Amino acid sequence: MKQAIDPAWPRDDFSRVPYAVFTDAEIYRLENQRIFRGPVWNYLCHDIELPKTGDFVTTWVGDTHVIVARNGAGLVHAFENSCAHRGAKLTSAVRGNAAHLTCPYHLWTYTLEGDLQGVTFQRGVGGKGGMPACFEKKDHGLNKLRVAIYGGLVFGTFSDHAPPLEEFLGPHSLSQIDRLLVQRKPKVLGYLRQRIPGNWKLYNENVRDPYHGSLLHQFQVSFGLQQPTMRGGIKLDADLKNTWNHSIITEQDAASQKIVAEAYAGTGKFNPDLKMADPALTRVPLDLGDNYKTTILSMFPTLIVAQVDNTYAIRHLRPKGPDLVELHITYLGFESDTPEQTRDKLLTVNFIGPAGYISLEDGEALRLVQQGIRHRRPGGHEVLEMGGVGPIVDTDYLSQEISIRGFWSFYHQIMGLPAAGRAEATP
Ligand code: FES
Ligand SMILES: [Fe+2]
Repeated sequence: MKQAIDPAWPRDDFSRVPYAVFTDAEIYRLENQRIFRGPVWNYLCHDIELPKTGDFVTTWVGDTHVIVARNGAGLVHAFENSCAHRGAKLTSAVRGNAAHLTCPYHLWTYTLEGDLQGVTFQRGVGGKGGMPACFEKKDHGLNKLRVAIYGGLVFGTFSDHAPPLEEFLGPHSLSQIDRLLVQRKPKVLGYLRQRIPGNWKLYNENVRDPYHGSLLHQFQVSFGLQQPTMRGGIKLDADLKNTWNHSIITEQDAASQKIVAEAYAGTGKFNPDLKMADPALTRVPLDLGDNYKTTILSMFPTLIVAQVDNTYAIRHLRPKGPDLVELHITYLGFESDTPEQTRDKLLTVNFIGPAGYISLEDGEALRLVQQGIRHRRPGGHEVLEMGGVGPIVDTDYLSQEISIRGFWSFYHQIMGLPAAGRAEATP
């Protein structure tokens, strides 16, 4: 068997991250084995996407295609989209409704729980052929995931060793899921998918990185949606893998404009005189009444639940190899929304997505990093020192990369990589 590669992690506070983790095919193979099939809870879908018996959606857990279905008892089950006979994909549909699942190849059928129901010609034809007497259908179900649901979010795991879901999510995720997705009943407004030519972990870094918010996103700073003087910070769960980033609206003051102008000085990128022909988008009022401007919940390994202004969305990462990730976005409104509030939410969808006024640059930043590191000499690494080095702790400020180091400390541990802090790599 091919030996796992062993890139050096020069510091044990994870303020150095070897670029090899974003580019190496062997690392990617190990991630599928140790993370996506390991002791984590993978986001599958939202409960409201399966309103009726027989409703199913398909999704991805790492490289594995998965079907999620609701059975007659109202329970949600998940299993691999691969026939127990000779492995054929059972369905290519994104979503649908079925009384049972039939494999297109030899027409074996499965229940909505993933159990084998029927084998065509099991007793042969005309008394000849058929399966041997010892063949037991109960031994040949689809490969199932364990399923657990919190706040309508449906998760699955292949591992018997994943901790209870609520423990895995941690207290900040639980309370924010309650705030965002439970206190009002959500409804799906629509979906977008975006293929980003970058590693899936670069996106995890991006959503744990409030440092870039007022620097990369010109739209946000130009129209005062994000300011470096905003109140906010990050809170991490006990094993540091999940982050709650938040910023809170405050009176925009002259100091903020001055800081932005200084940060952009000489870049030619900051234009405080920029005006929108139709500023309606920037004037949609926050509808939760608590002045949180952004709430970004980043949950290991591939789930982000985010409120950006008035846009509520579930973002799911679907890795497609070391240098490509599909971002699948589910936009949410709420059953209690008035027609006007629904219109507002559809308008603010323009903030987030492949061409979003805010998130357009995030996909581009990932592409630039992936391209930039492709030809670095071996041993190169990131430098994550903004906000301080050493202990990985909560902060009440936004210019920091500490939460990214939290992600890496958990990643390093679950991947079973050799101890960090052994040697200084060549930058
Ligand atoms: S591969 Fe599915 S029935 Fe044969
Ligand atoms: Fe961003």
